Amino acid sequence: MSEMKKMVVLAYSGGLDTSVAIRWLKDTYGYQVVALSLDLGETPDAKALEKKALISGAEAVVIKDAKDEFVSEFIKPALWANALYQKEYPLATALARPLIAKHLVATAREFGAEAVAHGCTGKGNDQVRFDVAVASLAPDLTVVAPVREWAWTRAQEIAYADVHGIPVPATLENPYSVDANLWGRSVEGGVLEDPWVEPPAACYAWTAGPGAWPVGGEEITIGFEEGVPVQLNGEPMALKTLIVAVGETAGRHGIGRIDLIEDRLVGIKSREVYEAPAAVTLIAAHRAAEALTLPKDLLQHKAGIEEVLSQSVYNGLWFSPLTQSLLAYLKETQQAVTAEVRLRLQAGKATVVGRRSPCSLYRSDLATYGEGDTFDATAAVGFIKIWGLPLKAVASAHGR
Ligand code: ARG
Repeated sequence: MSEMKKMVVLAYSGGLDTSVAIRWLKDTYGYQVVALSLDLGETPDAKALEKKALISGAEAVVIKDAKDEFVSEFIKPALWANALYQKEYPLATALARPLIAKHLVATAREFGAEAVAHGCTGKGNDQVRFDVAVASLAPDLTVVAPVREWAWTRAQEIAYADVHGIPVPATLENPYSVDANLWGRSVEGGVLEDPWVEPPAACYAWTAGPGAWPVGGEEITIGFEEGVPVQLNGEPMALKTLIVAVGETAGRHGIGRIDLIEDRLVGIKSREVYEAPAAVTLIAAHRAAEALTLPKDLLQHKAGIEEVLSQSVYNGLWFSPLTQSLLAYLKETQQAVTAEVRLRLQAGKATVVGRRSPCSLYRSDLATYGEGDTFDATAAVGFIKIWGLPLKAVASAHGR
């Protein structure tokens, strides 16, 4: 029997950090490295990625299409929660991390690896999300974070790459750090680090800027079934396909640009730019569907849950009992959220302009000021008397 080698599964993107990490893991810890890459919507060139990982020293390369799982297990519940961190960021990056962690663990089990690794720095949220997710799923696995450990400057890293014949991508010219998947694109670094500087046009890739917006805008209709978008303009569509289609359309109208001073879990404020045309449009539509079909008390209670879920996702607690319980709650809330929503996409905004539903709680006969009114206005008098009773008591106690 040949000597057993220590093995690590690395979340591999093909960028400089994780390419250098392969070699560094071998040299520093004597690991054999399995490079794992997930396709979450930013389709990597699988052949090129595999070649690059092998040149960089990987023992094996695993490339998986996890788009369907990402959509059904992560994006869908996030939409049910109308999940936005700080009321603005649709959490694309944050949602992907637990899924990547899950596949790191599964691949580690397949290969009998004792460790997993990721390319996060020591300043961000993503290291927390990976480390905590892996600890939740497989507490026996070691997590190695080469970039956090080596703490090199960019120049030192490139020098290490040169010495070891690791391909340095031409995209190093790109001054931004970008992470993208089906739900959105996150951009940070470069001139964005100055919060006074307007994001340059070059940091956007999915959305048109002012001046390039189609004149007159465009109207779209989203059909929801139990909270899930299932139709675009009357055409039935798988959610994955619908997200891409809505993203392209809304992106043409400049929808979904977000410029945020963000409070990271690790205590620092950072400046983040996001593009999330599909998420922003679908959340607006979903809110409108809920407003029509859910009762007032549930909507109000759910708003609190939405905030807790958003925080839990952002803070890397996906696999916690709390998050998993919230997901069950959210699913339950969606039973009646079957509706169609019309949106006008124009000049950087998605505006809801119409909604209808077989489960609508809107009653014309109660709401109307015209013909066919069935609301008993005489009953309002007694209702108001009792509703205002406590305030009358306060008034008399205060001698008014
Ligand atoms: N700040 C965001 C988050 O914590 C996005 C991080 C994106 N990472 C990147 N390399 N641009 O979810």
